[in-house]
Amino acid sequence: MALLIRNIGTLLTLQGAMAKEGRHVLEKDLGILKKAAICVDKGRIVWIGEEKKIPKKDLPTKLKEIDAQGRTVLPGFVECHTHTVFAGSRAAEFEMRNQGASYADIAASGGGILSTMWRTRKVGQKELLQISQKRVNCFVAQGVTTLEIKSGYALNRTGELKMLEVAAQVQGPRVVTTFLGAHALPPEFATYESYLEYLSQDVLPFIKKKNLASRVDVFIEKGFFPFKEGREYLLKAKELGFEIAIHADQITLSGGADLAVELSALSGDHLIQIGQSEIKRLAKSEVTCVLLPAADLYLKCTYPPARKLIDSGARIALATDFNPGTSPTQDLNLVGLLARLHMKMTLSEVIASYTVGGAYALGLQQEVGSLEINKSADFICTEQDWQELFYSVGECQKALVFTRGKQISGELI
Ligand code: NIG
Ligand code: FE
Repeated sequence: MALLIRNIGTLLTLQGAMAKEGRHVLEKDLGILKKAAICVDKGRIVWIGEEKKIPKKDLPTKLKEIDAQGRTVLPGFVECHTHTVFAGSRAAEFEMRNQGASYADIAASGGGILSTMWRTRKVGQKELLQISQKRVNCFVAQGVTTLEIKSGYALNRTGELKMLEVAAQVQGPRVVTTFLGAHALPPEFATYESYLEYLSQDVLPFIKKKNLASRVDVFIEKGFFPFKEGREYLLKAKELGFEIAIHADQITLSGGADLAVELSALSGDHLIQIGQSEIKRLAKSEVTCVLLPAADLYLKCTYPPARKLIDSGARIALATDFNPGTSPTQDLNLVGLLARLHMKMTLSEVIASYTVGGAYALGLQQEVGSLEINKSADFICTEQDWQELFYSVGECQKALVFTRGKQISGELI
């Protein structure tokens, strides 16, 4: 049945930020309306605006009314970079890093991504689904209505397919899956070239045929996938019809950001090491810059040049990068808080990055990211004032969360 959500205290539509394609976002672009209402039919928004302007006609005749009791309503968050499906934890490694070992040293000695690989290969699909569903629920409870999930912890065909199938099976949010077979070199292969050859010959076409992922990502980094081989692999992925995302310039300047621009990738992610020339090229491009400050916190490295990117006109998205190694947290508030405290982003920029920016990073800007007529009814209804968003960490919020007009989290109303 169609829904009319009325008595919304403050509504943030993000329409202005969407119209600006997520660039140079100001507070006025949040589209703040007081005493508002939304009408939803068949999972889509059919009317949105101030309550006093609700049309007498033209709305569906049978409507279930929901009283938002003066709460704040805003678009559901788009969490556009996660490694949610994995087994085990790497808490012991965190202690080693904290005692002075580097991420690269640990990886080179067989730990890091490869240690999660052994655990993930071993676990059965059913158990992996159970663990992953709990994590997905944790995202949803915070207001995530669209969730990106990468593979990349099995590094062989069977295991990567298992990860992608699990990602497709989790319930709740809209899920976008990304094939990250090129995350690290597995022990069965002696060279990056031969492994990438295997991925492009034996794995990518299969994933395409089974429609298990729409995007392909590579970790282009010193000690991981070299630029030249990574580029050739991504060109093949593009030929097969995949969208591209790149783990780019995280630990060293390795050419990932420029490659994202060259290949018209949906996103370049991390971007810690980029300089003025990369910033300029990213800002002029359609690539969304996905910034992951929780990983920077855990790695005790510098934060990406968000201010310079934004002021140059780049579009930003923020995400947790949730993974057992560099970012063992699912806390969106922490991400937003770090962006505000250490990356000098305004609250409006943080909110737009987690909605409009995330939608662009996944190529879903026509569907989600802002609340507008004909878009999917993906929204959060919270007791918080909008200025209290991304302010307190560790706080237990009681948000009501809707995807496609259906409530997926929070007390039933
Ligand atoms: O996004 N940078 C590469 N991949 C992950 C880390 C994965 C891991 O350490 O398990 C990241 O930071
Ligand atoms: Fe990542």
